[in-house]
Amino acid sequence: MKRALLIIFIIFIAMQVIRTDQNNTANEKELEIKAPLEVMTILKQSCYDCHSNQSKWPWYSQIAPFSWIIASHVEDGRKSLNFATWENYSEEEKTKKMKRIYQTVYASMPLKSYTWLHEEADLTKEQRSFIREWTGVRK
Ligand code: HEC
Repeated sequence: MKRALLIIFIIFIAMQVIRTDQNNTANEKELEIKAPLEVMTILKQSCYDCHSNQSKWPWYSQIAPFSWIIASHVEDGRKSLNFATWENYSEEEKTKKMKRIYQTVYASMPLKSYTWLHEEADLTKEQRSFIREWTGVRK
């Protein structure tokens, strides 16, 4: 029993050696998405940790295996949609992203694993409809 615990402990420590990329960059205002204050408040509260270059990295994001999961969510999140560099998208891309926001904000975003730890980021039905309306997408 003691031996098993020791082995688990050693594996846990060894896992900490594998570091993840948890970089933020300065916000460039002119590239950031422009939206009414109420929209920005929601995006910043519920989306920016994964869809901007200004993610918050809480203490547990430094501990493997959580660090691996969190860093990969942020990496994939930034790659698929980045509000901080929105103006780098072409008009066509912007239209596509707005459509995707319209679809995902209905239920799948923010990720459940995220709102489980960040209750304040979960969206009410009204906030979801509000964001959908803002995207300007017509069904
Ligand atoms: C915990 C991290 C996390 C949070 C918070 C989060 N997302 Fe995501 N999002 C992801 C990841 C990871 C992907 C890409 C992988 C996938 O499609 O599942 C993604 C994909 C998307 C996409 C698809 C982009 C495309 O072009 O296919 C949209 C749109 C999106 N998110 C919108 C939002 C919105 C709006 C919010 C806030 C209300 C939000 N997300 C909050 C992690 C997150």
